Amino acid sequence: MKIPKELVQFLKKTTRIAVLTGAGISAESGLKTFRDAQDGHWSKYRPEDLATPQAFARDPRLVWDWYAMRRNKAAEASPNLGHFALVEMERHLNDFTLITQNVDGYHRQAGSKNVLELHGNIQKVKCYDGCGVVESWEEIDNEVPRCPNCNAYLRPDVVWFGESLSLGVINAAHKATLECQAFFSVGTSALVQPAASLAHTARQRGAIVVEINLDPTPLTSQVDFALHGMAGEILPKLVEKVWG
Ligand code: OAD
Repeated sequence: MKIPKELVQFLKKTTRIAVLTGAGISAESGLKTFRDAQDGHWSKYRPEDLATPQAFARDPRLVWDWYAMRRNKAAEASPNLGHFALVEMERHLNDFTLITQNVDGYHRQAGSKNVLELHGNIQKVKCYDGCGVVESWEEIDNEVPRCPNCNAYLRPDVVWFGESLSLGVINAAHKATLECQAFFSVGTSALVQPAASLAHTARQRGAIVVEINLDPTPLTSQVDFALHGMAGEILPKLVEKVWG
């Protein structure tokens, strides 16, 4: 994939960039994207039927086990060249915000600093009753662990279907989107709101919008530059051309 010359020239003069990432950026680390089929035992469940408050209320153990499997997969693998290219991009900019829908924590692990985790982080747990306790994940054997403060169940610190995003996080994402000169949408199917609307907001405010994805998405026809291919190949090449 050739990086368009006009894009390189524009980015060389840019100081404010916002990047939205989705599951596609972690695919090259070996993690399945959200909409890929599930493996083995889990193939009989749809993620949409496990990642809900109702599923946890019905069968906390089942939901814990599913997140434990996803967390272990994330712990076994590591960030890839796409994540590291975004760390490098941040080093060259005064104003850089990385907005991610991923819960794997790979952007921070790679070294990105200004990261907004829209859907939470699988490495943390919080009180199911909302008493405010947030802790890092502890391995559990048989029982779903209890909140040390109020004894309710602990649950993964992620946003489930039907739940609201943290207001502080989404407000910060909007601010970065409104103020950026270039907005990147990387490895996301651009289907889930409110993340999917950010690219449109950026465009309306005059930013150029760049999509990096293996396949076309509902956003593709509306972006200034659509770069089709693997994020782990395109991002390092782009960063090298602009700031290398
Ligand atoms: P999806 O699984 O919907 O989309 C992943 C996108 O990445 C697809 O468009 C793929 O074509 C693309 N892709 C795959 N491999 C790639 C690669 N190596 N390089 C570039 N692109 C690649 O995942 P998301 O868009 O992240 O929310 O899904 C958004 C949200 O939907 C998730 O965070 C989840 C779900 O509802 C919650 O759990 C709240």
